[in-house]
Amino acid sequence: MSVFLGIDVGTSGTKTLAMRRDGTILAKDTVEYPLYTPKPGWSEQNPEDWWNATVQSVRAVLEKGKIAPADVKGIGLSGQMHGSVFLDKGKNVIRPALLWNDQRTQEQCDQIEAAVGGRAALIEMVSNPALTGFTAPKILWLRQYEPQNFEKTTKVLLPKDYVRFRLTGEFATEVSDASGTLLLDVKNRVWCKPLLDKLKLSKSLLPDVYESEVVSGKLSSIAAKLLGLPAGVGVVGGGGDQAAGAVGNGIVKSGVISATMGTSGVVFAHSDQVQTDPLGRVHTFCHAVNGKWHVMGVVLSAGGSLQWYRNNFGEMEAALAKGLDTEAYELMTSAAAKAPAGSEGLFFLPYLTGERTPHCDSNARGAWVGLSLRHGRAHLIRSVLEGGTYAMRDCLEIIKGMKIPVSDIRVSGGGARSAFWRQLQADIYGQNVSVTNSVEGPAYGVALLAATGTGAFKDVVEACAATIKVENKTTTNKANKAVYNRNYPMYGQLYSALKPSFPTIVNLANG
Ligand code: XUL
Repeated sequence: MSVFLGIDVGTSGTKTLAMRRDGTILAKDTVEYPLYTPKPGWSEQNPEDWWNATVQSVRAVLEKGKIAPADVKGIGLSGQMHGSVFLDKGKNVIRPALLWNDQRTQEQCDQIEAAVGGRAALIEMVSNPALTGFTAPKILWLRQYEPQNFEKTTKVLLPKDYVRFRLTGEFATEVSDASGTLLLDVKNRVWCKPLLDKLKLSKSLLPDVYESEVVSGKLSSIAAKLLGLPAGVGVVGGGGDQAAGAVGNGIVKSGVISATMGTSGVVFAHSDQVQTDPLGRVHTFCHAVNGKWHVMGVVLSAGGSLQWYRNNFGEMEAALAKGLDTEAYELMTSAAAKAPAGSEGLFFLPYLTGERTPHCDSNARGAWVGLSLRHGRAHLIRSVLEGGTYAMRDCLEIIKGMKIPVSDIRVSGGGARSAFWRQLQADIYGQNVSVTNSVEGPAYGVALLAATGTGAFKDVVEACAATIKVENKTTTNKANKAVYNRNYPMYGQLYSALKPSFPTIVNLANG
């Protein structure tokens, strides 16, 4: 039997799963670790924690699945994107890694755009604007604020690529995750030398770049011993968590889009060509499918808004749920169903943590607008669900505006588990949505890439066709779709109306 391991180095933990060639999952395991916020807006982790979690979760999977080590034929790596691991010449970690959600680098983002002559020029070079979460501004931050650490730095690795280094001894990355550094020429899938020159950064700081299914190194004997596997197993490039999650959901050809509603929400579209939004509202990255790209919109608090409601106002549902052996979310969506589509004129703006797509506005804040005596709990909850979903529609509209075909929308994450929310998504997107048999996300996607790269499939499209099936379709409700089409423009106008007030509101909040 051939077994493929998928390892996803996430923000809350590392998840490993073992998959057979037919897609059956034999075992999975997650090991968690802490996240540190030494100052407001900073977000860091210790790379050593990722490595320990990898070793522990691989060993647990082998044991749980009773997998013979010799059956493991390939390993794929996925992980949180954009993080920076700084290594010295002895290959030791210099300081904790700065993560994707670290907000300390606005100054360096401005410096990068200025160095190349503005945002449009940067988008021309690397297909994306400078965002605080990306890797390049983190490197400039280190040079400016910790010069003694920058002097020692000889390599900068992304989170999953640090784990790759510990597995294989190789410094390597792959195109999808490399796109999120802001240093990749996304069109040509190579490091962008002209930008590196403008920023006075040496290319030697960066690892080699591979396509995602290509074997980038072999398991070393030291790592093999720790993991309980034979030395020499191929480790493929893998993918950043969004591209890998998309592979795991079968988003590998034109027309198929995913809408993943977790804490954040991501609308992800495969693209056969490089396509950029001139305003930089969506990210344009290389896909984990060889020679292809993707465009994605990111909503920072999509499902996170409902989570916020539950944590602050959902005590009753939480208490009831315990007695009824169900989840508070289940009771909240049942309550929401009692209010009509459009929540009788109540709108919720989900900008609880600022917003990436479409506004790129860290000062944006949440709001309920339109409250009247008529509104009760059902309206409040329904409007929160509608607000998060309108934000996803914003992403979809930009993608459609770029003439990317949208024939099949696959929903996943928390927003896909409830039949009510699936229906609401179909009605707000104005299109039928579907769910697949695949719910394991990025770890599953990179196990498929490992199977492809070690010869089990011709390419990743064949791997997805062999393992991922559409299981359930939700068709739009004509009347509700019409209500949402009528209300959606007002949702957009409310942000524009409130935008000038947000910076002052943020200042007032900060005292
Ligand atoms: C993608 C992004 C997140 C992180 C963490 O641009 O910021 O998906 O990769 O999950």
